Amino acid sequence: MKVTIVGAGNVGATCADVISYRGIAGEVVLLDIKEGFAEGKAMDISQCATTTGFNTKVSGSTNDYSKTAGSDVVVITSGIPRKPGMTREELIGINAGIVKSVADNVLQHSPEAIIVVVSNPMDTMTYLTLKATGLPKNRIIGMGGALDSSRFKYYLSKALNKPANDIQGMVIGGHGDTTMIPLTRLASYNGVPVSEFLSQEALDKVAADTMVGGATLTGLLGTSAWYAPGASVAYLVDSILNDQKKMIPCSVLLEGEYGQQDICLGVPCIIGKKGLEQIVDIHLNDNEKALFAKSADAVRNMNADLKS
Ligand code: NAI
Repeated sequence: MKVTIVGAGNVGATCADVISYRGIAGEVVLLDIKEGFAEGKAMDISQCATTTGFNTKVSGSTNDYSKTAGSDVVVITSGIPRKPGMTREELIGINAGIVKSVADNVLQHSPEAIIVVVSNPMDTMTYLTLKATGLPKNRIIGMGGALDSSRFKYYLSKALNKPANDIQGMVIGGHGDTTMIPLTRLASYNGVPVSEFLSQEALDKVAADTMVGGATLTGLLGTSAWYAPGASVAYLVDSILNDQKKMIPCSVLLEGEYGQQDICLGVPCIIGKKGLEQIVDIHLNDNEKALFAKSADAVRNMNADLKS
């Protein structure tokens, strides 16, 4: 199985690294516009093969899409961060141009590929990719909920003082610090609702910490995070390539589910070899429904910037 990752920056290269050492795919191609950059990252990762013990073939390319031919999954992490003085609309305009041309190029060489969109603003970029390519919705998946959910479980594990791997929890809604919805009501520790162990005040703090989880890391690192984002993309790619049918919150086109139309937003999805195989309609209470509608309004406003 072959995976192409466009954008060999922090998130893209980390994703390639995790895919390789976990043996998720037989071949990974990194592609970037910066001359020699993807080749360098691929060489560095390849030189871990004997010490971490993997056989994945990793290569890099500067903008030569022919090297990506026949990819089963293409991950798009290319984009630029917001620069001082740049408006949100300008950023969206630039990243939309990048994501659109990348999607065009990869599809010329991998017409059957499933596309995983990571570039921010992710929900809007996923919607744009869907509209620009005209591909069926099962083949365009936005990654955000997997990362936000892993941060949610991290903060729950801190509050509970229990291992994160014993905790179940999910974040739905938009992939933004005011639009995501950590579902504290449904979170559990080995099947027992976390509300049995934590006060409402403690749960509210976990939710608030989760929502600013990305910003907290940017404050500490001076740039946005990459280990957990890269690993989250690899987790999603694993479920596609190896047909694991995991339930992962992903940004996908809604056509009536959760009361929304014509928008890509994070909802629980079954992810397998066809990409999005099913949207799981979980029962939300009135408060969660209201938060979801508010999140959709915010993402819809952002999508409107695509047209202006
Ligand atoms: P980065 O700046 O380290 O890497 C981006 C790479 O894209 C650079 O190497 C750049 O040369 C390349 N690039 C730009 N235009 C290109 C083009 N037209 N073709 C090919 N390559 C191109 O950024 P980082 O930290 O890796 O983040 C990548 C994107 O992912 C950003 O938009 C970031 O906001 C987003 N992100 C999304 C997350 C999510 O959960 N959805 C989590 C973390 C980051």
